[in-house]
Amino acid sequence: MTAKGSTSPDLLLMLDRSRPRSLRVQIEAELRRAIRAGRLQPGSALPSTRALAVDLGVTRGVVVDAYDQLTAEGYLLSRPGSGTVVSPATARPASSPPTVPADAGVDVDFYAGESDLDGFPRSAWARATRTALQTMPTSELAYGHVQGIPSLRHELADYLGRVRGVDAAPEHILVGHGFNHVFGLVSRVLRDSGRTIFAVEDPGYDRARAGLESLGIAYRGVDVDDNGLVVDQLRATGARVVVVTPAHQHPTGVVLTPERRHELVDWAQSVDGYVIEDDYDAEYRYDRRPVGAVQGLAPDRVIHAGTTSKALAPGVRLGWLVLPPALVDRVADHRRTTDGSTSGILQATFASFLGNGDLDRHLRRMRRVYRQRRDGLVAALARWLPELTPSGAAAGLHVLVRLPPQADESEVVDRTLAAGVRVYPLAQYRPPHGRPLPPALVLGYGSVTPQQSDHGVRVLATTLEEALRTRSGRR
Ligand SMILES: Cc1ncc(COP(=O)(O)O)c(C=O)c1O
Repeated sequence: MTAKGSTSPDLLLMLDRSRPRSLRVQIEAELRRAIRAGRLQPGSALPSTRALAVDLGVTRGVVVDAYDQLTAEGYLLSRPGSGTVVSPATARPASSPPTVPADAGVDVDFYAGESDLDGFPRSAWARATRTALQTMPTSELAYGHVQGIPSLRHELADYLGRVRGVDAAPEHILVGHGFNHVFGLVSRVLRDSGRTIFAVEDPGYDRARAGLESLGIAYRGVDVDDNGLVVDQLRATGARVVVVTPAHQHPTGVVLTPERRHELVDWAQSVDGYVIEDDYDAEYRYDRRPVGAVQGLAPDRVIHAGTTSKALAPGVRLGWLVLPPALVDRVADHRRTTDGSTSGILQATFASFLGNGDLDRHLRRMRRVYRQRRDGLVAALARWLPELTPSGAAAGLHVLVRLPPQADESEVVDRTLAAGVRVYPLAQYRPPHGRPLPPALVLGYGSVTPQQSDHGVRVLATTLEEALRTRSGRR
């Protein structure tokens, strides 16, 4: 669609009237995208609101509102008498990386489950694949060992012992297709051994809860405080299995303290139960010392689970369990009756990648990238929302941001999405029937550049203010 007027420049904006998003929101999103992509350069004049309204077949008020919103966000400047222009402050540095919209209509997506896919070490991975194909025994091309090929289990035992303090013997390791897969395998075995009630962190990882639900396993939520999971509360649940994220609690970012670790292990012993330790993003820490895995304290009571999803990319689909000796055969037997094994070629590639130090090198590089992104998000929050303090920022790939108590999480999420930025409510991480918690958002920065963070948080600041204003008007 083209806007024309006697003095107005032309502008191509695509509106889709079949979409539920309002036309104002669509105009805003289109203009933001055009500015961010450089199609509308800093300083260029926009059509007059009247001309654009005629051209798009909308009322002038809709265009006026869209221009006002973008002016408030700093994209546009309105000069009395000379119309509206793109703000010079939107100029992008020459070397700024391309922005990748996560999906149509979303400019920035703060999804916590995402890593920097552009940072995937393609060349090193290709080399490792070639090495694997040249060196793997022909026998490894057959249906594989249920627990994984020996070379990978040796490399993993070495790596996990060295980097995470895990007490791992190759014969206790089982390799599968990511955390969620191996979690499903071991959960089922524990359920069938009579441990029918599990406990999960509240707030905690939503997909783990979904996995338990799909297996028909009942679970109880247990509070998380500044020291991690509240073990006293766990004792009262009747559960004999607990799923925890000790190194960087998902999503609060709290580290499980040494006292709580000991309490947790004592609890497991006292109920003849197990701790499932989800060590999903422990490799990424910035301003704090590494914390070892809980498994090292009690290898017979803690099931350690890891994944390549954060360290490399979710699409690799590799994960592992380090099992207490008493569980190894049962989990292996169960695996035999399901998918049998993981691709030998993929495992041999990862074994080579680990063995020649490529994972260590990749992690060192990515820690720098993620530290920059973390700093970018924290700086954007300090700039646009100084009254909110993020927590859990010392490690991992996401932060938790508590909102003013009167804010409604889902309203803020909806308004922000309508403005092209996706943020995630704390509610998504909560099991049913938990105690009320103050409203908060979980913001992942793994795939969000500092420039994108600045834009996203600026939008969030505007939508939050709108939401709070509307609420106080309603009262
Ligand atoms: C808490 C937690 N555990 C595990 C995972 C990884 O799961 P998977 O290995 O199945 O990709 C994620 C990914 O976002 C996560 O947030």
